[in-house]
Amino acid sequence: MKSIYTGKTKDVYALENGNYLLKFKDDVTGENGVFDPGANTVGLTLEGAGRAGLSLTKHFFEILKEKEIPTHYIEANIEEATMTVKPATVFGRGLEVICRYKAVGSFLRRYGMYAEEGQPLDAFVEVTLKDDERQDPPISEDALDMLGILTKAEYTVLKNLTEQIGNVVKDELAKKDIELYDIKFEFGRVGEDKQIALIDEISGGNMRAYKNGNYIEPLELEKLMLEV
Ligand SMILES: Nc1ncnc2c1ncn2[C@@H]1O[C@H](COP(=O)(O)OP(=O)(O)OP(=O)(O)O)[C@@H](O)[C@H]1O
Ligand SMILES: [Mg+2]
Repeated sequence: MKSIYTGKTKDVYALENGNYLLKFKDDVTGENGVFDPGANTVGLTLEGAGRAGLSLTKHFFEILKEKEIPTHYIEANIEEATMTVKPATVFGRGLEVICRYKAVGSFLRRYGMYAEEGQPLDAFVEVTLKDDERQDPPISEDALDMLGILTKAEYTVLKNLTEQIGNVVKDELAKKDIELYDIKFEFGRVGEDKQIALIDEISGGNMRAYKNGNYIEPLELEKLMLEV
C-alpha cells in the first residue's frame, strides 16, 4: 500500500489493484477546539470520529448507488475506518462544491448586507477553490471556464449532481426531523470514461444540520442518523 496524500481528516493510499483506500482519522476541522465544516485547520480530535464519519459516509454512498448517481464508492470497512474507492482526478487542484438551504456560515459573512440569517435558499450551489493559502476563494462559472478548470458543460453536470445529491441528503435527514442548512461536496473524474462523480465523503464534518433549531455536532448527527 503506497501513501498518496496525508489530509487533514483522512489519509489516502494506493492499493495494488489500482483502487484507493481512504483512512478516516479522528481529527475534525475547526478552530480552537470548536468544530467548523468550512475550516482549513484541524480544530479538535474526537475518539471515534473517524469511524462515525465513515459510517454515515457509507450510508449515503449506498443510497446514491441505489439511485444510480455516480460516485467513487466501492466498499467500506468500519472497524478499520477505511473506505475503498475508485481513484479520481480532480478539477484543477481541487474544488469544493457547496449546496445551501439556509443562509448561514460564509454565505452570510459575504452577503449579510442583503441576506438575513437563516433565510431559506433553494439548493443554492457555490463552488470554491481548494486553496488553503487563499482561504478557499469562491469562483464563478465564467472564471472556472476561463481558467481552464471546468468547461461550462462540465459545470452544468456538476451543478445538477450537487443539487441532486444535496436533496438526497436533505430528504434523509428530514426523515429524522433534522434540517440540512448546508453541505460541502467534492467531485472528480472517475474511470476510463472520465465520468464526473462524487468523491471524498459525506459525513457530519461536511454539513451543518439542525434539530428543533439547535445545531447538531457531527458525532451526534452520525448517531441520530444511524440509530434504528
Ligand atoms: N476517489 C478519490 N480519488 C482521489 N482523491 C480523492 C478521492 N476521494 C477523496 N480524495 C481526496 O483525498 C483527500 C482527503 O483528505 P482530507 O479529507 O483530509 O481533506 P484535505 O484535502 O486535507 O482538506 P479539506 O479539509 O479541504 O477537505 C482530499 O484531498 C480529497 O480531495
Ligand atoms: Mg477533506
